[in-house]
Amino acid sequence: MEYRSIAIDGPSGAGKSTLAKRLAQELGFLYVDTGAIYRTVGLAARRQGIDPADGERVAAMLPGLSITMGYGADGLQHMFLDGEDVTAAIRENDISACASKAAALPAVRDFLMEMQRRTAREHHVIMDGRDIGTVVLPNADLKIFLTAAPEARAERRYQELMERGQRADFDQVLREVVERDRRDTQRETAPLRQGPDAVLADTTGLDLEESFQLLLGIIQERLDIREGTHEE
Ligand code: DC
Repeated sequence: MEYRSIAIDGPSGAGKSTLAKRLAQELGFLYVDTGAIYRTVGLAARRQGIDPADGERVAAMLPGLSITMGYGADGLQHMFLDGEDVTAAIRENDISACASKAAALPAVRDFLMEMQRRTAREHHVIMDGRDIGTVVLPNADLKIFLTAAPEARAERRYQELMERGQRADFDQVLREVVERDRRDTQRETAPLRQGPDAVLADTTGLDLEESFQLLLGIIQERLDIREGTHEE
């Protein structure tokens, strides 16, 4: 059976995961959050006391790691590091920078590539990340580049942290967003960029529902699918 794939790439805080999760539910596709996989590597480095930007030490760590992805009864993606469910631990604010640093290393990207491609070979997927349309799934049926102004993305991240009860300072969050953009777009390996065949979706000034409708419209217009068509 031919599986369909939708790639959603874009900078952090553009709403990729929230929107992709909902779209996947609506369409009966599997949602794959590839940032969570990089976060798991970042967490592993942090736990082993390794600088996530240290290419040699991180590369030496990788063969000893067991990183797996599973889907719970809730249908949500869980990440496991050496058998431990680290789904919550990888969301800690300081793991974001660790993940972004580790993600710049070619050895890390190679190590995680097959896991992502295999998932797309076995399911209809909506996969979100930075290089899904450009590198991981170059033959995806539809590629969307989802973005928003840095201030809008920082505001959303700030609200998210506050809702989770984590202390945050808006200016600090904005600085982190800008710094992560810089690292993700300027790295040599698989940098974040809009591919020539990706449809641009800018959600600046749109709320979640409006952003969802924008993406659903793009998908329905470009792909011959309707809600639930691919329920497995
Ligand atoms: O989407 P996120 O914030 O959870 O991703 C964490 C980091 O992982 C992000 O800074 C960039 C990196 N990443 C990547 O390089 N390639 C992907 N496909 C997904 C994430």
